[in-house]
Formats: sequence, C-alpha cells, structure tokens
Amino acid sequence: MIYRKKIVAGNWKMNKTTGEAKILVEDIIRDIGKFDDVEIVLCPPFTSLEAVSVLLSPVQNIRLGAQNLHEASSGAFTGAFTGEISAGMLKDLYVRYVIIGHSELRQFFHEDDALVNRKTKAALQAELRPIVCIGETLPQRESNQWKKVLETQLRAGLAGFGDKELGDIILAYEPIWAIGTGKTASPEQAEEAHQWIRKVLATHFSQSASERIRIQYGGSVKPENAKELLSKPDIDGALVGGASLDARGFTAIIKNACPA
Ligand code: PGA
Repeated sequence: MIYRKKIVAGNWKMNKTTGEAKILVEDIIRDIGKFDDVEIVLCPPFTSLEAVSVLLSPVQNIRLGAQNLHEASSGAFTGAFTGEISAGMLKDLYVRYVIIGHSELRQFFHEDDALVNRKTKAALQAELRPIVCIGETLPQRESNQWKKVLETQLRAGLAGFGDKELGDIILAYEPIWAIGTGKTASPEQAEEAHQWIRKVLATHFSQSASERIRIQYGGSVKPENAKELLSKPDIDGALVGGASLDARGFTAIIKNACPA
C-alpha cells in the first residue's frame, strides 16, 4: 500500500490582523514546531503572509500557504489586474501552497471549473502546490447528484494535466453543506466520497497516480471529530477553517491526525 503523509492546512479566511496572526503563529510553533509526523500548512490572508513567513522561516515542519491567486503570469510582478495577487508575488514571500477553487470563491465570486483549471496551471508553473477544492451542495447531496458533481469538477478542474501534474496537486473534498455549519460529513460519507474521487481519477490518470494523491477532508473539522475522520484510509488530512483560528484547537487536530 502506498504511504501518504497526512497534511493539515489551516484556512484562516478573512480573519486576523497582522498582530493577531503573529500571536496565533507563535502559539502554534510553541506547541507543534517540532512535530513532523504531519505536514502542516498555514494559509493566512494576503495581508499577513509576510509577517507569518518571517516567523515560519526558521521552522522546518510548518509551511506557508495562500488562499487564492490570480491566474495571470507566474513570474511577472506587474499586471493590469487591480486588487489581485500573482503566483510570482506569493513565491517572493516563500509561499509554498495555494488554495484554489474554494466553494466560497465559487459561490460568491463565480469561479467556475475552467478558472480553477487556469489558476491551478498558474500555480503549478510557479512551483506552488495547489490545494484544489471540490464539493457538492446540500441539494446535490440529497438528490444523489454528488458523484456526478465531483466527477465534473475533477474532469474540468484538472483538464489537460497528466500524472506528473497530479503528483504536485492536493485535493480537498469539502461538501458545501458542511462548511462553517457545524455539520460534518460522517466519516463514512467522507470516506465514500474520497474513494469515489480516487476512482474517477484512476479513469483519467493512472491507477498509481490516483493512489498517490493526497485528499483532504474539509467542513467543520474540529478536535472532537478529527481523529475518526482522519483514521479513514482514504482521508489524508484536513482543510480546517473555523477551528484553525485557535492555536489549541488547531494543534489538537494535528495531533489527532497522527498515524498513532
Ligand atoms: P470550516 O471551513 O472548517 O470552518 O467548516 C472549512 C473550509 O472552508 O475550508
């Protein structure tokens, strides 16, 4: 069986001033700064990336991630896209990961799978590791459309990529009905979705690439439910929103993600 190191990322969303971010990161480093059983990623808002980058520079096991990027130009530092941030700008701050296609951007900023695909390509070209989010709405889950929805998102979002690109991508399965709602998918529901994702990937990529890719679960992950979710064989980590804003909660999730 292929070993997949667990990866837990904190998606801070539009939270934390720079001062608050520094306090949170210092607390996290104090608690798990030497913990290397799990890959850890912190995704603060753009405004705190530099401050967090400085704090993480001497730390080996915690990496920096961004929450979004603009699709244009991976290396250039200029472009007529007011308010946007390029992959090159993120690289300049030692960002290693970037969340792409989060359901909140799909929902509120009308990101579609084609844009997710272009952003993923831009990230890969800049050697940033994309965390590509997919997931179904509640009506889609209840009408048993979720498999089709995930398949469409995977097909279109990863169009044009091969095994090599897939190897640098992390997927996050985030059922929209579970995000920020306190309603978590049951470990069985999440595992079933992750198995389905691997099955779809195996038809578009090689079987071994579908077994190697890491798939995070996201949606109301908390210290209390992390252990059970992350003990499922196809769940390789978590993308954590609300609970990542508190050092104690976030580090407890990471400790619960340990293979043990
Ligand atoms: P949540 O958010 O943990 O607050 O549900 C997860 C996410 O949006 O990535």
